[in-house]
Amino acid sequence: MPVVTLHRLGQTHRGEVLPDTNLVVRAGIRQFPYPHLSYQCGMGKCATCACRVIAGGEHLPAPNWKEKKQLGAHVEAGWRLICQLWLTHDIELEQAPLPSAG
Ligand code: FES
Repeated sequence: MPVVTLHRLGQTHRGEVLPDTNLVVRAGIRQFPYPHLSYQCGMGKCATCACRVIAGGEHLPAPNWKEKKQLGAHVEAGWRLICQLWLTHDIELEQAPLPSAG
């Protein structure tokens, strides 16, 4: 089963999830990574769930149009909208405010 490592606010949270898990859906039903994950819409519209992928990104699908629209150039730096991802492999993420442009 995929192991998710989430770094946020100087802490590290780690847990196992079932294959094809969406972390925002899980947080919505108050399972790991709740309450450590920030999210709002769950639909790729707010970018609150944005995370930088530290490891395991090679197993993810290419960013979809919602991620490209919300994240812009940050996609090239490894940022993803976690609500748009269904995880099948181990992944390490950092959730922090998106760096400002310029
Ligand atoms: S929770 Fe709003 S974009 Fe992911």
